[in-house]
Amino acid sequence: MPISFDVEKSIFSIETQNTKYCFQIVFGKFPVHLYYGAKNDAEIEGYKPEMYSFSPFYAEHGFEYFPDTCMAEYTGFDDGDFRTCSLKVKNANGDCATVLKYKEHRIFNGRLELPGLPFADVDKDCETLEMTLCDDVTGLIVKVYYTVFVNEDIISRYVSITNGGEYTVTIEKCMSLLLDIEGKNFDMISLYGKHNRERNYQRNPLFVGNQSIFSRRGASSHQFNPFIAVCEKNADQRSGVVYGFNFVYSGNFLDEVEVDQTGHTRVQIGLGSDNFSWLLEKGETFVSPEAVMTFSNSGFDTMTHNFHNFTRRHILPPEPFKKRPVVLNTWEACYFDIDEKEMLRFAESAKECGIDMLVMDDGWFGERNDDKAGLGDWFENRNKFKDGLKAFVDKVKNYGIKFGIWVEPEMVNPDSDLFRAHPDWCIQCRNREMMESRFQLVLDMGNPQVIEYLKDIFSKTFDGVSIDYFKWDMNRHLSQVGSSYLPPERQGEAAYRHILGVYELFRWFREKYPNAMIENCSGGGGRYDLGMMKYSTMIWTSDNTNPYARIQLQYSSMLAYPAATMSCHVSNHRLCSDPKTFNYRYHTALGGALGYEMHLPNAEQAIRDGVKEQIVNYRKYEDLILKGDYYAVLNPFVTNYSAYYYTNEDKSRILLSYLQYRPEEACEVVIPVLEACEDAVYLDEISGKTFTGKELIRGISVISENSECNSQMWYLIKQK
Ligand code: DGJ
Repeated sequence: MPISFDVEKSIFSIETQNTKYCFQIVFGKFPVHLYYGAKNDAEIEGYKPEMYSFSPFYAEHGFEYFPDTCMAEYTGFDDGDFRTCSLKVKNANGDCATVLKYKEHRIFNGRLELPGLPFADVDKDCETLEMTLCDDVTGLIVKVYYTVFVNEDIISRYVSITNGGEYTVTIEKCMSLLLDIEGKNFDMISLYGKHNRERNYQRNPLFVGNQSIFSRRGASSHQFNPFIAVCEKNADQRSGVVYGFNFVYSGNFLDEVEVDQTGHTRVQIGLGSDNFSWLLEKGETFVSPEAVMTFSNSGFDTMTHNFHNFTRRHILPPEPFKKRPVVLNTWEACYFDIDEKEMLRFAESAKECGIDMLVMDDGWFGERNDDKAGLGDWFENRNKFKDGLKAFVDKVKNYGIKFGIWVEPEMVNPDSDLFRAHPDWCIQCRNREMMESRFQLVLDMGNPQVIEYLKDIFSKTFDGVSIDYFKWDMNRHLSQVGSSYLPPERQGEAAYRHILGVYELFRWFREKYPNAMIENCSGGGGRYDLGMMKYSTMIWTSDNTNPYARIQLQYSSMLAYPAATMSCHVSNHRLCSDPKTFNYRYHTALGGALGYEMHLPNAEQAIRDGVKEQIVNYRKYEDLILKGDYYAVLNPFVTNYSAYYYTNEDKSRILLSYLQYRPEEACEVVIPVLEACEDAVYLDEISGKTFTGKELIRGISVISENSECNSQMWYLIKQK
């Protein structure tokens, strides 16, 4: 059983295949963290109080328990622990003091559902610990949940807060996960960016104090991804201690790391105070989103594998098609300039090149001729599709390919029928002029009427139309976040309720169109998070399709998310006609699910033949990319190269990639393939050369060049 409780010692143990997590209930009241690390037989030592001057204590327990210096499991506020708190609740009398004490627990198979939220699916080995904490004065009841994903070495955490008191209270901060780590000599890895340049890798030493990454934008955002890692200073791909964290949520978040006077490091993942508060009336319950953590004492590869396996097995929705379709998307080729005739040319050329699906991007609906109008009016534009959407899609299907369509359900242009009819359905603060971004406003998805309108209009437009794929976009962040639907005292809930509404609509799409895939997009990768991955098979990685930018973006995304979640398109931009560049773009796109973003009907025959050949090759190893184990060898943020490989389980097939980032004076680059079977011989199907396993382990050698777009691939097959 992965979760156990030693009654005598009052110690909980949570075990995964390779890790162990322990905490103790001290004096029958205070949950104190003891250990998170490698699974071993060493006896776990119980809590030893550490006294520092100025640390408050309870007279009843003397110097035997100090909330300010112990490693905690979950904290209230103003409870004698001066470090950053997990939960802040404003009580009826105006103070925020919350002292949480253990009351009871239960351990059960499987897990509970999180109402309205995405959460990880369980398998037969999953177990959950529910620990109930109470504040005796306010009557607040906090249930802390730990669900164990044994085979992936993942433990998930979330809390439910129930107002068991007499008076209404307000939650002002609610973290889902707290982990106190012994020691402070760590680095923190996080992914920062902006639109068109998401998820840049940064590794910084922790300092004493509070450091955080966050989103206050109503979306998980391009600016910071919710994933972080805290690692030993010498941790590398294959050695060193690494703790990885992520959040199964797509809105505002706070990841904070605080190093304190005792030399401990507190990590918390959850909902911070910015743009979040929640009124809790007597008897009501609030449930936080789920956060996840993993531990590795063998470097980043293990953390990455744990997150990849977890995401593939417990987060991503089932795929509707036997094979992931290679798509041709119209955006970069046409922008808004689309109509039936042009789209059918795309369908024809897609078929000719072996592409599986045409994805018609923005511009097909309402008065959508540019980005200034039409969002919200989700019916086809009859000037562009004179016989309607269904007749058009049937014609696409006649080419024997699948069909996908672009939507941006959460948005509305002021120049739209929807806005003219319902201006009050937008996110807005009373008496303030609404701010546009990309000429659009955000619908208040927390308002059930908005959700009903969207379900209705999409049903009218899409029912009976053979749609295989939705590209679900979201192109602005939430500012002046208020809701005409909510009373003044609940305005702090608007951003959170908005996301709950977004999730509801996602679930509706999945149930209504179960045979269609959803590709998520938010101006590229602005909602590249586990919450969105619960509903969408893959995510448009970035609007930036420049291969150099993609090399970096894909490397950092892969730290936490599997390749199967990344849509990677070979794009149009002028360089395509040069075969070396075209090949480099293809090679870069093998970082994820292959697609094309180019004017194929107008492309030269050589390009069309190239696409055809690329897809034939991709089919040989796409299972390794989408389902294999990934190993990063060279980090393109700290070297001039990206090198990585995918393997199958028995290492009999290896797809190795080397991509030079920028031109440089020639030098030797060595790429060790440490997973190769030592005594085997591998044939590289691309060059026809053979390599012994030992040679591969020592490393394949490449000479970098003083020119653009250098790359090489090896498809290594183990010989019998
Ligand atoms: C932003 C997306 O990232 C693009 O791929 C495209 O779909 C446009 N929006 C359409 O407006």
